[in-house]
Parts: sequence; structure tokens; C-alpha cells
Amino acid sequence: MKVAVFNTKSYDKEFLCLSNANYHHDLTFFEPHLSLETAPLAAGYPAICVFVNDILDASVLQTLSQQGTKLIALRCAGYNNVDLEAAQSLGMTVVRVPAYSPYAVAEYTVGMMLDLNRKIHRAYSRVREGNFSLEGLLGFDFYGKTVGILGIGKIGAIVCRILNGFGCKVLAFDPYAKPAIQEELDLRLVSKEALFAESDIISLHCPLTPETFHIIDAHSIEQMKPGVMLINTSRGAVIDTRAVIEGLKSGKIGTLGMDVYEEEGDLFFQDLSCQVIKDDVFTRLLTFPNVLITGHQAFFTKEALTHISETTLSNISDIEAGRPCPNQIKAEASYAVAATASSGH
Ligand code: NAI
Repeated sequence: MKVAVFNTKSYDKEFLCLSNANYHHDLTFFEPHLSLETAPLAAGYPAICVFVNDILDASVLQTLSQQGTKLIALRCAGYNNVDLEAAQSLGMTVVRVPAYSPYAVAEYTVGMMLDLNRKIHRAYSRVREGNFSLEGLLGFDFYGKTVGILGIGKIGAIVCRILNGFGCKVLAFDPYAKPAIQEELDLRLVSKEALFAESDIISLHCPLTPETFHIIDAHSIEQMKPGVMLINTSRGAVIDTRAVIEGLKSGKIGTLGMDVYEEEGDLFFQDLSCQVIKDDVFTRLLTFPNVLITGHQAFFTKEALTHISETTLSNISDIEAGRPCPNQIKAEASYAVAATASSGH
């Protein structure tokens, strides 16, 4: 099928081209994001392939439909950027990649923990400047520490297994977890309050839903151990960033690792190094020496990108052949499902 690929980065092109050897779609790569201005690029393409920050509102979909596009292939899990009702009323099909690699995200999460604890990123800069002092680089042993995992799904479970290997005691809060998981993963299911009170390290792996929106706020921070390490590789809005800044200023939060940020849509996945960042909350976070922020890269492994490409192209083949596609999104998908999906990417 003829596919217009929007928002193409070098790695998207590389992995889609590699996988396409097995699917033989006719791919054309465009660098710009999809928007009302760039939608005309898709004229004559029955399918388009887009990412999380492309705009697929009713007016963009209307333009695409008038130009002959019938299939929207999302190379991500989230679809909160797609007006599904408009797509349905225009007779357009929307497909996505529901999950890529939980190992990628789990391993990255533990990497953030280790780096923050031993301040490896700071040591790296020091040594390059000829500063071999150890002042300020003191860490702690993970062995014997208590780690609280909020959301013990695919990623949370892998984080738990890795930390079990370090000799950590793992607690988890997940209202939907089955009790059997305790034996399976060698952890203890506890209340949210107990997790906050007992954990030396807290790692967030729940989806963003109305229930988990700002689940880390001033009240929950108040309940945590002084000097707690907080890691968020799930979804930015799970954390109330302003409350976390206060927690860092008071010393209640000892270290913070974030791969996601509430307002990341205006920042991440772009090179803004020659521009002034206007988000004062974000720039305040960057001033703390005990904060590590990365731009939503936890998923970014060869395996995950291979899976994204394979699934995207296979979804397109299914629709082209008129086969049922397990990854097709229907307009009636509930808010909770959409929020869960959008939290992946
Ligand atoms: P999953 O669906 O396997 O697990 C999520 C778990 O959270 C489930 O066990 C669910 O019961 C639990 N949960 C739901 N509501 C909860 C609540 N109110 N409190 C506590 N737990 C709750 O999802 P998976 O694959 O483990 O992904 C977890 C999150 O990781 C995603 O939702 C996404 O936000 C994030 N993610 C981040 C990526 C990155 O690159 N930084 C990439 C992919 C996912």
C-alpha cells in the first residue's frame, strides 16, 4: 500500500525500511509533523503513518479523507491525538502498536535509579574536567532497601524482578493485581499509604487515568520517607510537578528521575538547544543537582523499534488484505482505555 510516513526521524526510516523488506509497502517519508498545514503532503496516499505528537483532529482528518486517505497507522500505543469519532464518521480505519518492549522501559528505569544514586552523570562531567573529587557523590547500597512499585503490570513486574536480584525488598500498590503475584514476584502488595511510608525508592508504572492523575501530589509526598528516591518513567501527569519541586526544596524528595513530564508535548523529541525554553516549571527542575530528566527515551531500544515497525507494517497489511486487525481502534474505546494507551506513548 502507498503510505505517507509523517514526523520521520532517522531511526523511524531505518527501522521501517528494514521491516518493510517483508511487507513491500510503498513508503514515502516526510519530516514534518502532521498538521492542517502539512496534510496536503498526503494527497493521493491511501494510508498515512504517524506518531504520538502528530495532530489528527477533525479538520486534519477531513482534509486527509478528501485527499483519499482511508487508513491511519499509528506507530505508537497512544491515540489521544486522534479524533476517533471524526475518523469513524469519515469511514477511516485507525490502527496502533499496543505495546513494544516492557524490558526496554524496565531496564531504563533501573538505570535511572542506579545513576541517580551513585551520581554517575555528575561524575562523568567532573572527570572530563579533571575533577576527581568524590565530594557529593556518596550513594547507598541497593541491597536491603525497600522499593515501592506503583502499578505492577508488564513493566512494573520486570522492574521488580531486576530489583529482587539486587536483594531489595519490593512492595507494590496496584488495585487490580491478583494476590498470587506476591509469590510469583516475591513482593508484598500493600496500600498506597504503606508504600509511601515504607519505601526508600518509589517507581511509578501505572497508566494515566483519572485515578492516577497527580497520584504523587503534596499529600502523598508528605507521607514519604525523608530523602526518598522518586522515579517516573510512566506518564508525566501521574506526578504533580509543582508539588515535587516543593518536595525537592524541602529535602523530602532526595532524588528525582523523570523520563516523562506533564507538559512534554511542547518539548520532547525535538532539538530546542538553540531556543529559549519558556516552561518555567521545567526549567526550575533542571536547576536541581539531584534531578535527572530525560526526554521520553525509556522505550528507545532496537528491539522496541523493530517491534513498532513490524507491527505497524503488519497492521497495514491486515487492513489492505481485508483481514481482521487485532490492533484496530474503535471509536467507542473508553476514556480509561484511551488514557492507558496514551500513557505508553
Ligand atoms: P500495564 O498495563 O501492563 O501495567 C499497568 C499496571 O498499572 C496494571 O497492573 C494496572 O492494574 C496498574 N494500575 C492501574 N490503575 C492503577 C492505579 N490507580 N494505581 C496503581 N496501579 C494501577 O502497562 P505497562 O506496559 O507496564 O506500562 C506501564 C506504563 O509505562 C504505561 O502506562 C506508560 O505510562 C509507561 N510507558 C512508558 C514508556 C516510556 O518510554 N517512558 C514506554 C511505554 C510505556
